[in-house]
Amino acid sequence: MAFRNPMKSLRVLTGITTSGTPHLGNYVGAIRPSVQASRRPEVQSFYFLADYHALIKVGEPERIQRSTLEIAATWLAAGLDPNRVTFYRQSDIPEIPELTWFLTCMAGKGLLNRAHAYKAQVDKNLAAGVDSDNEVSAGLFMYPVLMAADILMFRAHQVPVGRDQIQHIEMARDMAASFNHLYGPHLVLPEAAIEENVATLPGLDGRKMSKSYDNTIALFAPPQVLRKQIAAMVTDSRKPGEPKSTEGSALFEIYRAFASAEETRAMAQAYAQGIAWADAKQLLFERIEGEIAPMRQTYEQLMADPGRLEDILRAGADKARQIATPFIQELRQAVGLRSLRQAGARPTPAAGNAKISLPSLKQYRHDDGKFYFKLLDGEGQLLLQSLAFDSPRQAGELVARLKQGDASVLESHADRLEPASDAAQLAQALLSLRQAAEGTANSVAQALDKAARHPNKDL
Ligand code: TRP
Repeated sequence: MAFRNPMKSLRVLTGITTSGTPHLGNYVGAIRPSVQASRRPEVQSFYFLADYHALIKVGEPERIQRSTLEIAATWLAAGLDPNRVTFYRQSDIPEIPELTWFLTCMAGKGLLNRAHAYKAQVDKNLAAGVDSDNEVSAGLFMYPVLMAADILMFRAHQVPVGRDQIQHIEMARDMAASFNHLYGPHLVLPEAAIEENVATLPGLDGRKMSKSYDNTIALFAPPQVLRKQIAAMVTDSRKPGEPKSTEGSALFEIYRAFASAEETRAMAQAYAQGIAWADAKQLLFERIEGEIAPMRQTYEQLMADPGRLEDILRAGADKARQIATPFIQELRQAVGLRSLRQAGARPTPAAGNAKISLPSLKQYRHDDGKFYFKLLDGEGQLLLQSLAFDSPRQAGELVARLKQGDASVLESHADRLEPASDAAQLAQALLSLRQAAEGTANSVAQALDKAARHPNKDL
């Protein structure tokens, strides 16, 4: 019997810092493309509110809470379906700070010295003639490490971000590579996914739209406010009738982000023909309002019901932790934070060079007419036994997931599965399967000459 492959192959993850009110730049650069991507059937999406990140910049508890509420409501209003994706709050996942520490021990200080956010503050200090570390918290310095943990925790393949964040993704790759080099191929190296035309939106003053420049257009402000903000946009002083340049026009850039290719061409033509700035602004207002108005209504309903949002986020955290909890277990195991009861001398695949044969899954039907499966290690020893399933499809789906090394099955179907070995052996077997499935098994070989690159090799 044919059955649907339960594995979604591409994992996409994105986060927004809960330090302000969502603006059009967030919507165009992250929320809209992410929500669209979340509807692609082959994509498994993770969305989260980066509230630990917010603490780096914001020392006002009320603002953190308020922003969390606003951003959660925004994403749901923008069409995110929490039943279909994993939507959670960073601080509900204690595995993230734990992974942050593991990565902290991987990240070269020199690498972090180059991070834009930190460097910008240092440059500012130098320009102002004050100490270069002025107002630099260790949190700001460590920002890329926390972000790497967000991404690596869920083995994301792609991270939709604005251009300013590409460096952070590269740093996450770097830390993941160092970790894998030292401990074996546990972490997936992520890639930045940039939406070509509209990745960063200019703000009211033409610079990048950003909370830090105070030049944003709020996403769900009432229409009168939207109209007023657009009216206040900086343009040049060309009069009606004078041809205008689309080059460097923030108004044009924002219009383009909301319009079809055809509408954009028409606007470019209107520019060439000398459209009055006031008329161009009116067209921009109408275009944005057309897209935003229906969402604004949902947003307002959600904002009026914080308890519902809290429940949605809690449910999302449960779902996220079905992945994070077994995975951090695997990583603790990998780095050597292990139970002392466990046979200590057993080498991990990364450390040993013995040829290991893969674990296998066997599905079968019993005399009782029911369907079963079991997981055996490379030597044929039983690791996991299923209880009876009425349909081969049910059993088959779980077998397919286990074959991909999907350890979350152990939690989600705990009542249907009986481990016949200790958790560490089981985790190791699933890891081998996943590595084989993801084709990363050959990086095991690279792990053998690891010592050379590990920054702390002399410790
Ligand atoms: N740094 C991101 C921003 O400022 C927010 C963020 C935190 C994030 N963790 C992330 C984005 C992980 C993508 C993936 O926009």
